[in-house]
Amino acid sequence: MTDKTFTTTQTGTPVASDAHSLTNGADGTTALHDRYLVEKLASFNRERVPERNPHAKGGGAFGELVITEDVSQYTRAAVFQKGAKSETLIRFSSVAGEQGSPDTWRDVRGFSLRFYTTEGNLDIVGNNTPTFFLRDGIKFPDFIHSQKRLTGSGLRDADMQWDFWTLSPESAHQVTYLMGDRGLPRSWRHMNGYGSHTYQWINAAGERFWVQYHFMSKQGVEPMFADEAERLAGQDADHYRRDLYEAIERGEFPEWDVYVQVMPYEEAKGYRFNPFDLTKTWSKKDYPRIKVGTFTLNRNPQNFFAEIEQAAFSPGNQVPGTGISPDKMLMARVFSYPDAQRYRIGTNYNQLPVNQPHAAQVSNYMHEGNMQYHFNTAEHRVYTPNSYGVAGGPEADPARGVEASWEDDGTLLRSAATLHSEDDDFGQARTLINDVFSDEERARFIETLVGQYNGLSVPAIQERFFWYWGQVDQALADRVRELAGLPIGEAEPVGVGQ
Ligand code: HEM
Repeated sequence: MTDKTFTTTQTGTPVASDAHSLTNGADGTTALHDRYLVEKLASFNRERVPERNPHAKGGGAFGELVITEDVSQYTRAAVFQKGAKSETLIRFSSVAGEQGSPDTWRDVRGFSLRFYTTEGNLDIVGNNTPTFFLRDGIKFPDFIHSQKRLTGSGLRDADMQWDFWTLSPESAHQVTYLMGDRGLPRSWRHMNGYGSHTYQWINAAGERFWVQYHFMSKQGVEPMFADEAERLAGQDADHYRRDLYEAIERGEFPEWDVYVQVMPYEEAKGYRFNPFDLTKTWSKKDYPRIKVGTFTLNRNPQNFFAEIEQAAFSPGNQVPGTGISPDKMLMARVFSYPDAQRYRIGTNYNQLPVNQPHAAQVSNYMHEGNMQYHFNTAEHRVYTPNSYGVAGGPEADPARGVEASWEDDGTLLRSAATLHSEDDDFGQARTLINDVFSDEERARFIETLVGQYNGLSVPAIQERFFWYWGQVDQALADRVRELAGLPIGEAEPVGVGQ
């Protein structure tokens, strides 16, 4: 007996050489019937799958979520019951850059979580910010196009980014986060995560609540300064990926405390900010954070491609006792992610080890398609209803499949969402800059805006840049003008609302 293994083809036939192709004499032509050479080259040619469109560059790890508090009054979900432990997968990412792009470019960071629960996979696919640039999914492709590259030159372009943002004033709150310290975290370990959207929780009695998820880093939230970020972008494009991997290898397991803000169902209509508007946060004075538990990352992937690149998260992956809300962005996302993944990975992407549930069973009447791996026994019926009782296959049960629900206004139309008493595009950005940022954070933020202004070349966009920040705070816009060596003055909203 020996432990040695020998090379084979993909169908298990022993191979004679991994170094020499089959040729006609030592110096002659190569034989097409060298099936191992052909198989090896063909496999190599198919190694890449399309990268994620947004959030292409990232990294991730596995760990465990432990629930330390009793939140059963808000949710019946097994994953959130006190004492429950669930295997966890996380993927951090940047939004705009491609696979090889430097980790330390200024950007929002993705914070995708999967909990493998006994009631199926629960995914919370959020960012390191509690808000977003938009409030309607129909604008998302335009937004991402404006952050990616010009079609002609293939270059990224500050004019294009600011053109879109300043023509979409609802972006101001999130752009403030992005231009502040959260746009450049020290590492993925040193940032918080947020579900960002409002989600629904349902308790055992069927009572509904609106919730916001907050994941607070136990490593602390720390920024990276712009000069270091620039240096690292050149020296170590994979800085964040390396930091996470090496910390886990060293046994320094990063942790995040899980909190929720909980809003009773009935309070959504009258709350001063529309709780389904993703550009807004809920005041912690109105809805304090409630602790739920802690998750720890303690295991690196064995294979980056299989377990991180092929990971397919979706905000639609909810479990009984959790659900989505009537946030227009969230509803668009529930369609978008599985659609992207059927294209990016393939029809049966949920059968891959990283995507299949690890603590629950799959049973339904879907089958076949490209790369089917799982299959049912021959007795299993392929349709429902059928006459074979228990032997005929699974049965859907409304008592188990508890879903989110809400009452809506009933008229199908295209319209902006209803404004609540304190809703506007700029107010929460102003509060963030003036009441939340420290003096140092504010100074770095202003410096960043000056740098951003210096990257602009189109006069109408330059003008609108100052209009946009003037709407947030005129003194702020004046200060940026001053530092950029420009005369002080109010700017025009060139092109806004056209
Ligand atoms: C309607 C708006 C949005 C659409 C249509 C959209 C669409 C997408 C798509 C198609 C992907 C690639 C998925 C894949 O190939 O696996 C993606 C990735 C991602 N998106 Fe969005 N997105 C939207 C808004 C958001 C928002 C608001 C957030 C955060 C709050 C977010 C966070 C992420 C993250 C973290 C990833 C990476 C997932 C991963 O780690 O695999 N997206 N998005």
